[in-house]
Amino acid sequence: MKKKWAVFISGTGSNLNAMLDIRENIRLVVSSSSQALGILKSKRAGVPTLILPKPIDWNQLNQTLESFGINAIFLAGFMKIIPESFISDFKGTIINLHPSLLPDYPGLKSIEKAFQDQKPLGVSVHQVIPEVDAGEILVQRRTETLQSLESSEFLVHLSEQRLVREVIAKC
Ligand code: GRF
Repeated sequence: MKKKWAVFISGTGSNLNAMLDIRENIRLVVSSSSQALGILKSKRAGVPTLILPKPIDWNQLNQTLESFGINAIFLAGFMKIIPESFISDFKGTIINLHPSLLPDYPGLKSIEKAFQDQKPLGVSVHQVIPEVDAGEILVQRRTETLQSLESSEFLVHLSEQRLVREVIAKC
C-alpha cells in the first residue's frame, strides 16, 4: 500500500522541494516555524501546510495527521525533538534524514565535525525512536570529501535531495 506522507520541516525546505517532484505521495507539510522558507515551496506546490503553534500540541497534531489519513512522516530538517508519547501514539512510520553516516556524528553540525576529523561524509535515513538520530538505519550514501567544507557540504546536500526522493518514490 502506498504511504501517505507528511513532511516535517523547520527551515529552507530544499529536501521538501526535492520530494515535491512526486507530490501525489505528499498529503501535508508541517512546519515548526512560520518563517520557514519551505512553506513557500509547499504552498506553491498546492500541498496543505500546517504551521505548528508554540508550544506544540502533540496530541492535537496526531489527531490532525489522522484526519489527513497520514500513515508516514518524513522529518526533513525538522529541528524539534519529537516526544516519546507522540512516537508511540502515531499510527505509522516516522523516518528522519540526517547529514552524516550514522551512528557517527548525530546531532548538530555533523558535516562540519566529520570534515574537521577527516572522517567519511554521507547521509542517512533512519527510523525515529525517542533517542535523537538513533533508530534503525534504512539507507545510507557516502559522499566525496572535497577540498573545502563548503564544497563538501554542497555534495552532502545534493546527496540528501537524491536520497529523499528515492525513498519517498519507493514507498
Ligand atoms: C538537512 O541537511 C537535514 O539533513 C538537516 O537539516 C537540513 C535541512 O535542510 N537535518 P532543508 O530545510 O531541507 O533545506
